[in-house]
Amino acid sequence: MKESTTKSLAEIGVQTPEQLAAVFVQLRADFERDAAIVNDDASWKTFRDAWLGRKSGVIANITDNWLKKAPTPDLKKAVGQALNEFRAHVEAIIEERRLAAETAAEQVALARERIDLSLPGVMRPVGTRHPIRQTFEEIEKIFLSMGYSVVSGPEIETPYYNFEALNIPEYHPARDNMDTFYMEPPPNALASSSTKIEPRLLRTHTSPMQIRTMEKQKPPVRIIVPGKVYRRDNPDATHAFAFHQIEGLAVDVDLTFCDFAGTIEYFIREFFGHGTKSRFRPSYFPFTEPSVEFDASCIFCGGSGTSASGANCSRCKGSGWIELFGAGMVDPAVYGYVKYDAAKFNGFAFGIGIDRLAMLKFGIDDLQVFTQNDVRFLRQFP
Ligand code: PHE
Repeated sequence: MKESTTKSLAEIGVQTPEQLAAVFVQLRADFERDAAIVNDDASWKTFRDAWLGRKSGVIANITDNWLKKAPTPDLKKAVGQALNEFRAHVEAIIEERRLAAETAAEQVALARERIDLSLPGVMRPVGTRHPIRQTFEEIEKIFLSMGYSVVSGPEIETPYYNFEALNIPEYHPARDNMDTFYMEPPPNALASSSTKIEPRLLRTHTSPMQIRTMEKQKPPVRIIVPGKVYRRDNPDATHAFAFHQIEGLAVDVDLTFCDFAGTIEYFIREFFGHGTKSRFRPSYFPFTEPSVEFDASCIFCGGSGTSASGANCSRCKGSGWIELFGAGMVDPAVYGYVKYDAAKFNGFAFGIGIDRLAMLKFGIDDLQVFTQNDVRFLRQFP
């Protein structure tokens, strides 16, 4: 019957209100049949368009073909009434079916997304801390137990903090082996700024944080500074252009060389084991005076210089000692830069190369493996 709404009343032979009423009864039956087969969003849309579509929906057709073109006023009135009633019914049912279709879709989605809590979960490997990170943490723990605090500072430094304030003037030869990656200021920064732009460089050591800390804080100072440092070195088994250090600095009244040596000795024994002996040799750094180099008794041959097979120990080359790191009493010249009273305070500083210590500790003979991200290597450090 709904197809006949494209024709006029005369064409389908309706002349009286009674005949019209009969037609509407059939229309309603058609409508109920259509409504019954709606079961999802797509079929609901087809259903709605067929009945309420603006151009050729049944309601629109009745308005255009029956109501507007009704042959007599009587029939027009009858069409008007029946149409109003029918439209209200159609709209109500269509809305009802929409809700039903939506709920059905939700039920389907719910069933699909149901979580079965009894199924075993997906195991995601958590990963482990990198051996360098582990070494950092172990060293931090030892110094924290001695009352040091951990601070960190910028990897991009000014020459003032990296060199000058550490008593390394521009033409000092100590700069040579540390001269590093300088950064070009952005070209428009030069043009637009009236103030002089200070050059920047990647710090060559963590020592600039000695200065930055003392500028901010009065003694007593007891800090360690873990971090990344950079040098213009070609990569090989013991060199990398980016590596890691922990700086240490203690400044107070009455700090002596004994406190210094005792602190380092304690650290070396805690880190490598209680049987490890340590020693220091004279060295040179512009910002410490005196300066020393600390060695530990070889942890591979127990300091004997001979390996189990009787040959020379390959790790310490038969010497029984392994070079560890540089250190010294803070040079009074440095206090001048941070306005500390050099007559009143003294202290010591050290700069531990972490990669080196990690290599010794884990028996690794090539520094490059730390940054190659090979999981077969990394998995060995749970
Ligand atoms: N900053 C020095 C270096 O990187 C090490 C050092 C630190 C030496 C502190 C003495 C005191 O070589």
